Amino acid sequence: MKLKIAILAGDGIGPEVTNEAVNILRAVAEFGGHDFSFVPLLLGGVAITATGSPLPTATLDACLESDAVLLGAVGDKKFDALSPDKRPEAGLLQIRHALGGFANLRPSIAYPALSANSPLRPEVTEGADILFVRELLGGLYFGSPREWNKSTGEAWNTMRYTKAEVARVAKVAFELASKRRKKVTSVDKANVLEVSQLWRATVTEVAKDYPDVTLEHQLVDSMAMHLMNIPRNFDVVLTENLFGDILSDEASIITGSLGMLPSATIGGAVNLFEPVHGSAPDIAGTGKANPLGAILTAAMLLRHSANLEQDAAAIEAAVRTVLADGNRTADIARGNVPDKSPAQHLVSTTEMGKLVHQALAQSIDQRQSMHAV
Ligand code: IPM
Ligand code: MN
Repeated sequence: MKLKIAILAGDGIGPEVTNEAVNILRAVAEFGGHDFSFVPLLLGGVAITATGSPLPTATLDACLESDAVLLGAVGDKKFDALSPDKRPEAGLLQIRHALGGFANLRPSIAYPALSANSPLRPEVTEGADILFVRELLGGLYFGSPREWNKSTGEAWNTMRYTKAEVARVAKVAFELASKRRKKVTSVDKANVLEVSQLWRATVTEVAKDYPDVTLEHQLVDSMAMHLMNIPRNFDVVLTENLFGDILSDEASIITGSLGMLPSATIGGAVNLFEPVHGSAPDIAGTGKANPLGAILTAAMLLRHSANLEQDAAAIEAAVRTVLADGNRTADIARGNVPDKSPAQHLVSTTEMGKLVHQALAQSIDQRQSMHAV
C-alpha cells in the first residue's frame, strides 16, 4: 500500500513524540512491504517564527495533497500576548477547518497496567473503554458573530449548529457504536440552550435508523460527574465541540495521563490525526514526554486512513505489552505500585518508542511465522 503522510510536528514536545510515531509507521511499512512517505511541514509557533503565519499556504496545499495528516502539538508561551486569531492555536483550528473532518474520535481506555496511575480507585476505572465522538467544526469555536469589543468592554462568541451538522456527526457516532457495545450517550445542555434542543432533537431522529443502538441523553454538567463515577457505563459519547474538548480532558483521568490519549478526525477531504495532549513547553527537550499518545494516534491513522486494522491492533497490543512490562515515562510513573505489578522502569521518550518498536516487531514476527506454518 502506498501512503503519503503529511507530518506537522509543531511546537514543544510535538516533534519528539511525532518522531516516535513516525518510527513506528516506518516499521509497519517495512514489515508489511508498504510504501509510506512522510512530508514534514510547518504549523503553529514554528510556522509563525519561520513565515509569520501559523498555517502557511505551502503547508495547507501539501496537506490537501496527502492521504493523511499526522500532527504533534501546537502552542508556545512566546505567542501568549497575540490575539486568538494570530496564535499558534489559530493554525490548528484553520487546518481542522480546511481539511473538513467534522468527527473527532477520542478513545479513553483504562489500561489494567495503569490502574494505579488514576486518582480514581481501580474498581471504578476497571473495564472503562469510552470512545468520544466530538463535533470539531462547529459550536463556539467557529460560530459568528465573535468579538471582543475593547471600547465597550463586551465580548461574545456564538454557539451555532445546523441540523445537518448535528446529523452527520451523530451518524458517525451511531455507526461506530453499532460495531462496539451499541450505546450512544449524547451530551448537551438542553435545559438551558436552544442549540442543545436542536442537538437533542436531531440526535433522537438519527437514532431511529439504528434500532439496535441504545441512545441516552445526558446534560453536560451531570455527565462530568457520571464520567468519573461509573466510567464503564459509557460506550460512545457524542458531544458538540466545546463540551467534547472539556470532557475528553476529564476522561484522561480514567487512563491516568493525558499523554496516553490519541485522536482521529474523520469525515473530511483528508483525515487528521493528533494526540489529545498539548505542546507541554515546560518539559520539551527533557526526554520526559510520553510518546504513547502519538504512537496510538499512528495506529488510528492506519485504521481510519489505510484500512490496516491488523497493524493498528498490533501497535495497540505492543503499547499494552510495554506498559504491562512496567515501562513508564514520567507522567505515568507516579501511581502507587500495586503489590502484584512488576517493578516500574522509568524510561525516556525515545526509549519508550524503541520498546514499542521491539514489542511490535516480535508480534509481527509471530504473526508471520504463524502464516508460514
Ligand atoms: C484540543 C486542544 C485544542 C482545542 C486547542 C489547542 C485549540 O485543546 O485539541 O483538545 O481546543 O480543540
Ligand atoms: Mn483540548
